[in-house]
Amino acid sequence: MKSRIIPAVVVVLVAAVGLAGWRVRDVLKSTEIPTTILFNQGLNPVVTGAPVGWTNAWCGSCHKQEYEQWQGSRHNVAASTHNFEVECLEPGSGRQQYCLNCHAPRIPANGLPTSEPPGLDQAYQHQPEWLAGGVDCLTCHVRDGVVVATRVTDKGLEKHAMREEPALGRAEFCAGCHQFAFKDLDLPDHFHGALQQASLEEFLEYRAEGGVETRCHDCHMPRGGHSMPGGYDDKMVKQAVGMDLVAEWIEPGREAEVTVTLRAGRVGHRVPGGEELRFLTVRTEVLTADGQEVGTPEPVPGGGETDERERDELSGWPVIETLRRYMGDREHGRDHQAPPAPDTRLRPGETRRYSYRVHFESGSASKPLTVRARLWYHLMHDGKAKLFGHPFDDVQRVVREQEVPLDPPGDSATDR
Ligand code: HEC
Ligand code: HEC
Ligand code: HEC
Ligand code: HEC
Ligand code: HEC
Repeated sequence: MKSRIIPAVVVVLVAAVGLAGWRVRDVLKSTEIPTTILFNQGLNPVVTGAPVGWTNAWCGSCHKQEYEQWQGSRHNVAASTHNFEVECLEPGSGRQQYCLNCHAPRIPANGLPTSEPPGLDQAYQHQPEWLAGGVDCLTCHVRDGVVVATRVTDKGLEKHAMREEPALGRAEFCAGCHQFAFKDLDLPDHFHGALQQASLEEFLEYRAEGGVETRCHDCHMPRGGHSMPGGYDDKMVKQAVGMDLVAEWIEPGREAEVTVTLRAGRVGHRVPGGEELRFLTVRTEVLTADGQEVGTPEPVPGGGETDERERDELSGWPVIETLRRYMGDREHGRDHQAPPAPDTRLRPGETRRYSYRVHFESGSASKPLTVRARLWYHLMHDGKAKLFGHPFDDVQRVVREQEVPLDPPGDSATDR
């Protein structure tokens, strides 16, 4: 008798516990908050919960195009470039987990954002996947062990667990890493000073100017492209800035006016966007046929359209104009009373003219002259180039160049 009752009790008990388990799991399920896809300015690393075997190469075995494009992107090398490695291992400003939270967010660590990540030097020696991949497939696409996408399909579900996340398709997703301020070294979650990168704010400025694109993706991920080009890409920089050059005589043979016009193109933020270390210069000069500089430039009163732009001393050719976001004591958060440093970058929708009066000694303009303007893109200012050990020529390049003739007076087409 006893021996029959006990198994029955056990069965009932097991069933009850099992049911309760289901109940509890149901309750837990309904209150379970999915891990956000968004990043938080480097405050935390990402926890993907990816099953063992989910590597970038595995994703790439099916998504070949995305994989190849990503391999050629800056995201892929975000933690492994020479520049990043030098700065990240530098005791002065690097050695913070904070840096890796954006540049290689899958860092398997739980230290405070400001603390020295355990095993940092070993990581650079051994190059584990999370470091070598930088901002990788799993960083952007995997949470709670499932693939996160803007579109879920049956075909996709056959290959891997998935969930839909509209936020992946919005500007805020990019801004979680692409907009942030300087961080205190000794306070784990305290920022100071102005935004060091302000992509989202500038994007909102672009939208307010009537810009049509509603997301970063529209320009940086056309047709779902994963190469995400930016300032390293000539085509992108050209797309951002148009340049036009005009030269004409005011007083034939003695005085001419040269005007360089820059026009913001299809770009959703100030130019150059991104890091404060990037800048542009416009270099204009008047040359003889054998390449000698000739004439003396002078600023035209009221010739520039922006008051706050800074014009480098006009002390001869080439005349150099700088489009740059300067960071002073106020921006660095060192002195809140300090005057704001200028931001001379091109604004969304802006057209800017730089005009110069050019004086010629008598006779110096009697042969055909050439006026030349060049737009240079600079990846970084001299201080950073020095820190990284780059010759200056390696971190700057001409992205636009234009020449127009300034023929001697009386040599115009109608006289010929
Ligand atoms: C910097 C973040 C980021 C990284 C890194 C990244 N993706 Fe994406 N991926 C996105 C975003 C954002 C979308 C959504 C685009 C949209 O909806 O317009 C997307 C879309 C996709 C799509 C959908 C198809 C398409 O063309 O829209 C696939 C497939 C994909 N990613 C696979 C990958 C794979 C594989 C990797 C690694 C090789 C990868 N992604 C790396 C952000 C990323
Ligand atoms: C065994 C093949 C396979 C592997 C491995 C794989 N996927 Fe997929 N994935 C698919 C298929 C098939 C689809 C559905 C495509 C469709 O519906 O057009 C899909 C869909 C997706 C989508 C949505 C595509 C869309 O059209 O919006 C994303 C994002 C994605 N995968 C990312 C990943 C990531 C990240 C990994 C690695 C963690 C990965 N996949 C691994 C086969 C694979
Ligand atoms: C997890 C953080 C993270 C997210 C999310 C992220 N990025 Fe980036 N992105 C980076 C880092 C770090 C770099 C710098 C890599 C380098 O140049 O070393 C970068 C570089 C870039 C560049 C510069 C490429 C160049 O040629 O200079 C562009 C453009 C870019 N990201 C666009 C996007 C867009 C668009 C999105 C959203 C779809 C996005 N990123 C999402 C971290 C992120
Ligand atoms: C209307 C098109 C457009 C939109 C929208 C747009 N960008 Fe750009 N972006 C460009 C172009 C063109 C460039 C190249 C010129 C430059 O460097 O400013 C660029 C450059 C960049 C760079 C590279 C700067 C560097 O230092 O290499 C980053 C980073 C970037 N964009 C991020 C973003 C983010 C984040 C968003 C959304 C908040 C966004 N962009 C929206 C067109 C766009
Ligand atoms: C909130 C995210 C975030 C944090 C935190 C962060 N970065 Fe970056 N970093 C970026 C993005 C995004 C870019 C690319 C911007 C661009 O291309 O204009 C970048 C660009 C860079 C570059 C320039 C890459 C090149 O060669 O052109 C270096 C170097 C760099 N970061 C180093 C660091 C170091 C060192 C730290 C820590 C002190 C750090 N970053 C913290 C997001 C971050």
